[in-house]
Amino acid sequence: MKERLDKFISSQTALSRKEAQKAIRDKRVTVNGELSRSVDIKIDTEADAVALNGKALTYQTHVYYMMNKPSGVVSATEDRVERTVLDILPPELRRKGLFPAGRLDKDTTGMLILTDDGDYAHRMLSPKKHVKKRYIATLDRSPDDSISVRFEEGVVLRDGTVCKSGQASLLDGTRVAVEISEGKYHQVKRMFAALGYHVEALERVRIGSLELDGDLAPGEVREMTKDEADLVFSDKSV
Ligand code: URA
Repeated sequence: MKERLDKFISSQTALSRKEAQKAIRDKRVTVNGELSRSVDIKIDTEADAVALNGKALTYQTHVYYMMNKPSGVVSATEDRVERTVLDILPPELRRKGLFPAGRLDKDTTGMLILTDDGDYAHRMLSPKKHVKKRYIATLDRSPDDSISVRFEEGVVLRDGTVCKSGQASLLDGTRVAVEISEGKYHQVKRMFAALGYHVEALERVRIGSLELDGDLAPGEVREMTKDEADLVFSDKSV
């Protein structure tokens, strides 16, 4: 595809069109290794090698990031008071139109996907797709065996909302692995509250068949391939 250089740079980075033009004028942009002086030359987005500040910009229509969300940041694109998951992204991964596909509570940790692909997020969050999410919940006390059956039957929340059948299995002590395919507000915490437990810590470790990358420390994020991102649509049970 042919595209104006400034438009291309702006689409592949967090820079506005004006900032991209300035970068070109400031001699920070090369096309096929040559310094570019003109903001309005047309480049071939697949064939030409464009670099900004010496770093290659590879043409991508959409990006998919996996974050190991730390506690204390909110799953939003902006917030007047709180730090958001976008605020903690390293500058080289910033890009226009990025948003978290789904939400984790401020104190919940673990896998969060960030993308600029609205269709992907819509498919992932659609109740019709029944995408399973796996969490590790640490409870205030050891649960009894009945929790597995209660989850299987469908927990009734304190406000009367009936949850779809899920799975819960005791890992050790107070830690329980939970799989649910819905995304109601504070769902896991409310399910346990309905059974008389308090969730002290909650971590999301899998979405569909996509596992949280164990090499990501809390707060770290990395780009995924589209194939990897699509693992959320394949199923794997507890
Ligand atoms: N369930 C919750 O209660 N909180 C989350 O962040 C995710 C699922």
